[in-house]
Amino acid sequence: VGVDLARVKNPPAGAIAIVADILDPAVAARVQSELGGRADLVTSDLAPKLTGIAARDEARSRELIDCALGFAITMLKPGAAMVVKLFMGAQFKDIVDSFKRHFGNVEVTRTKASRPGSSELYIVAREFRG
Ligand SMILES: C[S@@+](CC[C@H](N)C(=O)[O-])C[C@H]1O[C@@H](n2cnc3c(N)ncnc32)[C@H](O)[C@@H]1O
Repeated sequence: VGVDLARVKNPPAGAIAIVADILDPAVAARVQSELGGRADLVTSDLAPKLTGIAARDEARSRELIDCALGFAITMLKPGAAMVVKLFMGAQFKDIVDSFKRHFGNVEVTRTKASRPGSSELYIVAREFRG
């Protein structure tokens, strides 16, 4: 089950693509009803439309990460996992700490697919405390 502001043109068989704003508190209930229960994994590559104003872009990114974490807390089974894309910035340590409060095992990693020089990182959080 996926959520995005944009419509997914050809979702793969078995996938449910909900067009909605993740900041809308009603979305979690819709996802849970489609899933029929709690999730084993929540992934997020949410990103705001960039304005080029660094402080504003960073604040909007942080808002989406906080929202994704809050969403996962209502959605995950105890022991479950979450993977989140983020960009290195001033709030990085604070963001990682917020994941450590809810998961027993939190790693930060890069993928080979990221562009060389990109500040793109992934938080891989396991052992959701529930
Ligand atoms: C980096 S793109 C990833 C898109 C898609 N997952 C993919 O791999 O092609 C970031 C996505 O975040 C979505 N997004 C940004 N803010 C959102 C919000 N408040 N609620 C839902 N989706 C949002 C955008 O519409 C955009 O599609």
